[in-house]
Amino acid sequence: MIPETVIVLAKSPQPGRVKTRLQPTFSAAEAAALAAAAIRDTLDAVAALGPRRTVVAWDGPPVSWLPRHALVVPQRGQGLDERLEHVFEDVLVDDDSPTLLVGMDTPQLSASDLDVDWRGHDALLGRSCDGGYWSIGFRRYVPGSIRGVVMSTPHTGADQLERLRAQHLSVRVLPTMRDVDDAEDALEVATLAPRTRFARLHRRLVESPCSPVTLFDAAMSGHPVEVRTHGYDSVSALPLAAEAGAWQQLSAADEVLLSRCVGPVLDVGCGPGRFVEALASLGVAALGVDVSRGAVDQTRRRGAAALVRDFRDRLPAEGRWGTVLLVDGNIGIGGDPLALLRRCREFLRPGASALVETSPDDAEDRRTVITLHGPSGRRSTALPWAVLGSRALVELAAEAGFVAVEDWRVGGRAFVMLRHAG
Ligand SMILES: C[S@@+](CC[C@H](N)C(=O)[O-])C[C@H]1O[C@@H](n2cnc3c(N)ncnc32)[C@H](O)[C@@H]1O
Repeated sequence: MIPETVIVLAKSPQPGRVKTRLQPTFSAAEAAALAAAAIRDTLDAVAALGPRRTVVAWDGPPVSWLPRHALVVPQRGQGLDERLEHVFEDVLVDDDSPTLLVGMDTPQLSASDLDVDWRGHDALLGRSCDGGYWSIGFRRYVPGSIRGVVMSTPHTGADQLERLRAQHLSVRVLPTMRDVDDAEDALEVATLAPRTRFARLHRRLVESPCSPVTLFDAAMSGHPVEVRTHGYDSVSALPLAAEAGAWQQLSAADEVLLSRCVGPVLDVGCGPGRFVEALASLGVAALGVDVSRGAVDQTRRRGAAALVRDFRDRLPAEGRWGTVLLVDGNIGIGGDPLALLRRCREFLRPGASALVETSPDDAEDRRTVITLHGPSGRRSTALPWAVLGSRALVELAAEAGFVAVEDWRVGGRAFVMLRHAG
C-alpha cells in the first residue's frame, strides 16, 4: 500500500557539516556531494512511488534541486528525537493519514521498499544495520511515540520499537538496511545499488585521483596509506596511524636532533607533531606547519601549536625563526629541494640553522613523483618528491645561501645541519 504521505528527513549538504564520517577517505566537499546524491536518490525513489504528498523536512540552507511538488518544512527542536516528533506534528496537523518517514542515508532505497502492506498494523519501523532506524511510519500519529528515545546508539532501533509497543501500537518491522555512515558503508551501498546517483558519484570519486592532502589526512586518522615512488618500484607504508606509528614516539635519532634545536623552532611538514610536542615540553617555543588538517589537529591535541599551511604560504614571524626542521624525508616535499631550502632560509634569522634529514645513501640524488594509495581504493594525484643524500644537499644548500656545519648518523638515519650564511 502506498502511504498517503512520505517525509524525507534531510540535512542540507554543506561541506564539513554532513557525512563527516566519510572523511578523511573523502574530502569534506566530496562527502557533501555524496550526501546530496543520497538525498536525490531517496527523493527519486519517493517520486517513483508516487504518494499523495511528499514532504521534505529540511535542516540548513536551501538548495535548488528539491522537487517542486514537495512541501518543504524546516526541522525544529533540539535532539533528533524531538525533531522527528515535531515533523510528524507539523506535517499531520490537519491530515492524519498513513505517513512514512525516511532518512537520507539509504540511497539504495527503491519505490518497492516503501510500498508496504500496512494491513493490521498501526506503525512501521525499518531498522538499520548499525542499530538505528532508516524509516518510521504511522497510520495515525500518536504523540510521544519518539521524543525521549536516545538516537544514534547501537540500540536506538530496539528502543524505538519498544516505545512504539509501549504506546500499544502494533508494529510491522521492515527489512533491515545498511545506512551510509562511514567509507566502508559507502562502498557497500554503492555496490548494492550501482545505478543510483550515489553509486555513480562514488565510482567517479574512487576512480579519479584525489588530492594527496586527503590521503595524508586519512593516514593521520589511522587508515593504512601506501606511498608508491614512481620509477623505483618502491612501495612503503605511511606510518602515520594515530595510535601505533613509529612517528609518534621519539627515537634516539630524534633526541639528538632535538638537542640541536634553538628556539623558536618551525617544523615544516610536522605530521602528527611529535617534535613540536617534545620541544614545547622542554620549554622551547615551536610551531608545526602541515598541509594536512588531520596532522595539525593531532599536533594540537598533543597540546602543541600548529597551523594548516603549505610551506609556500606566508608564515608567521618569517625571518625570525631559530631553527627549521625538515625531518623524515621532508626535504622531498614539493620535488624541488632548492626552492624548499630557499624558502627555509627566508624563515630563519641570520646565523640560525636548518636541520635536515637526508637519505642514508650519501650519493643519492633523485627527483621523482609519489602517489598515495589509501582506503576504498582511493589514490592521489602524482606529488613531486625528491630524495637527497648529504652530498647533493650540501651542494644545493650553498646555492640557497646556507653553509653545512655538521652531519651525523644515528640508528641508520642521516642528518645535516645547515647554517643561514647571513
Ligand atoms: C613524510 S611526512 C613527515 C611527517 C613528520 N615530519 C613526522 O616526522 O612525523 C610528510 C608531511 O609533510 C606534509 N606536507 C606535504 N606537503 C606539504 C607542503 N607543501 N607544505 C607543508 N607540509 C606538507 C604532509 O602532510 C605530511 O604530514
